[in-house]
Parts: sequence; C-alpha cells; structure tokens
Amino acid sequence: MREISTRFWVNLRIESMARAIANLDTLRNRIAVSPMCQYMSDQGVATEWHRTHYSALARGGSGLVVVEATAVSPEGRISWADAGLWNDEQAAALEPIVREIKRAGAIAGIQLAHAGRKASANRPWEGDDHIPEGKPNSWTPIAPSAVAFGANLPRVPDAMSVEDIHRVQSDMAQAVRRAKDIGFDWLQLHFAHGYLAQNFWSCKSNKRTDQYGGSAENRGRYLLETLAKARSVWPENLPLTARMGVIDFDGNDEQMLGESIDLLRQMKREGLDSVDISMGFNSPDANIPWGPNLLEDIAAKVLRETQLPGSTSWFIDGPSSADRMVREGKVDFVMIGRPLLSDPHWPYHAAKELGVPEAAWKTLPAPYAHWLARYR
Ligand SMILES: Cc1cc2nc3c(=O)[nH]c(=O)nc-3n(C[C@H](O)[C@H](O)[C@H](O)COP(=O)(O)O)c2cc1C
Repeated sequence: MREISTRFWVNLRIESMARAIANLDTLRNRIAVSPMCQYMSDQGVATEWHRTHYSALARGGSGLVVVEATAVSPEGRISWADAGLWNDEQAAALEPIVREIKRAGAIAGIQLAHAGRKASANRPWEGDDHIPEGKPNSWTPIAPSAVAFGANLPRVPDAMSVEDIHRVQSDMAQAVRRAKDIGFDWLQLHFAHGYLAQNFWSCKSNKRTDQYGGSAENRGRYLLETLAKARSVWPENLPLTARMGVIDFDGNDEQMLGESIDLLRQMKREGLDSVDISMGFNSPDANIPWGPNLLEDIAAKVLRETQLPGSTSWFIDGPSSADRMVREGKVDFVMIGRPLLSDPHWPYHAAKELGVPEAAWKTLPAPYAHWLARYR
C-alpha cells in the first residue's frame, strides 16, 4: 500500500523559519501557487481577469498564493501588459484580490520584480520577443551593462548609473510599502530568470567595473542592498523571501552555484527568511536538462548548505513526488505552476491521490467540499 504522508498535509509551522510570524503561524499545507505573469493588466492595474484567476487559485486549496511578478516601475515590466505596483491605483486594484485570497483560507503573497534587459517584450503568445525601438508599447530596457540577452531579446539596454540603481531600489521599497499596506503577508523578491537582479548577479550580463561589478561580492551588492531596502519597509514579523536563480546550465554551473550559496548565506544574515530555488535564464545558450523534478537535488543542496527554509518548482512530477520531496526534507514546500493552470483544484486531487482523509474538506470551500465528500 502507498505510504501515506501526514507531513505534507500537517500545517507548516512557519516558526521553523527564522522569524516568528504574528497572526500567521501556519500555512494550511505545503503547496504554493508559483508566481505566474498573466500579461492581462491595464497600465499595470489588475483587471477582472486577475480577480477571477486568483480567486479560483485560492479556492483551489493551496496554502500560499504568490501573485505574479509585479513591476516596481514602468520600465521594469516584461511586457506592456504586466502587473505593476508603482502607484496607488494599482494598489487599490490589488487590495480586493488580497482579501479574496485570504478569505479563501490561503496566505497572500506577491512577487516584486524588475525585468532589466528582458523588458519591453511582446506578450508570450504574441511573439515573446523584444518590441523594436520606436514601436508602440516599446521602451528602452535598463541593465547593469549595455549587453543584450540575444536571441529573441536583442535590444541593447542602457547601462544603469549608480543613481539609476538607487532609484530602482527606492522604487522597490515603495512597492514593498504598498504591498504591506494592502495586506500581503508574504513577500518574494524576484532575483531569478534573467531579470534585473540576475543581470547584476551574472558575469554574462554584468560587465561593470565599479562597486556593482566584477567580484562576486560586487555583483551581489545590488541584491543585498535591495534586500536590505525591502527589509527596512517590510514588517519584521512577516516572511521576506526571494526567488533566486542559482544555476544557468551554461557550463559555469559549479561556480555560480557556489557563489549563490555564499550570497544566500549573507542574505540570511540580512533578514531573508526563505528562498525559492530556481534558474538564472540569463543566457540563450543554456542547455537545460528539462525533465521531471529538475531542480530537486540542487534545491536540496542549497537549502541544506544555507540552512534557509525554502521551496522549488519546475516539472515537479505530480503529488507523490511533491510529497516525497517534503518528507525527505529536501524542500519545506513546493511551488506549483502549470499544473495549477490546468487544474486549480490540484491540491484536492493531490490529497485524494495521497489518501489524505477528508481530502475535500482539507482543501476546498464548504460549497464544494460538502458535495464531493458526500457523493463519491
Ligand atoms: C504562465 C506562466 C507565467 C510565469 N510567470 C512567472 C512569474 O511571474 N514569476 C516567476 O518567478 N516565474 C514565473 N513563471 C515560472 C513559474 O513560477 C514556475 O516556476 C514554472 O512554471 C515551473 O513550475 P511548473 O513546472 O510547476 O509549471 C511563470 C510560468 C508560467 C507557466
């Protein structure tokens, strides 16, 4: 008989994290909705699409719902239709979404981001490529150095001055303050996927010769300073987390992994509570070994060596793999993406598949749970 894990389903006591968390000491399970851009915002403002989308995901039973990469400034959007949090109108549109996520019993999180040299692109289903200069919905991306990503993103970004760096960090702090004010309880800084923070971290995109480039210490400076800025605004008793790209699969893997572990140790000292382990996506020449549970062992190594609680995502091969990764202590929770797009009730089906008693009541709201528990 299949071994039934209780650990996956017992509440995750966040007291195991670095900080005690007021009013929020448990997640109802260890399934998190991974942040997923919807490219459906209007001037950075959430729309009806977001209200129904996040509501469905929260009602689907995940313990944590992390709202998509939300830009801290207009030029920090990947596409013109990205979510933003640089003004009060955007905050006001997100507030009911936060309320709805919480009402459905999940913790409401948000990922704050700046797209760096990947900014000013078409929406994925409209090309996913850079919009040429001078065309509608196009702007000049900014990055640590004037080095293009290449391939479908050929635009050469403007190299940022130190003033630009401080301005983006201050935009981040303002967005963090807005996120706090509208009730988010979980903050994730986007330090992965070839966006601005990753552009600083990677020697492929960072060719600076000042205090923000060169050595690992200098390349990590932007990330550490940004974290400190966020921490200064974000409440001490709420989790401040990051999604970190620790590997690019571009031949420089051992060095990048080692340096990332060192940087995360420093971030932990600066107040990082948890990390999601992801990839750099900073090189079009990467040779990613796509396959089931792709990052499982890498995440386990980073979490073990940094002693940070955390998670990973990418092709987690169904509920039994997720359950096993948690039971074996490789991750503290899982970030699920596309499976939740295909089935927002994935947590319910996972609970059933794993033989969890009262699966419906543990995952779904009463108007669904009652009927599913009663007539099987
Ligand atoms: C539609 C879509 C949008 C995404 N947007 C984001 C995002 O906003 N921020 C981010 O860090 N990752 C983003 N990702 C990556 C996911 O968070 C997740 O890591 C990835 O899909 C792998 O998990 P999965 O195999 O369970 O789908 C996106 C993925 C998808 C499919």
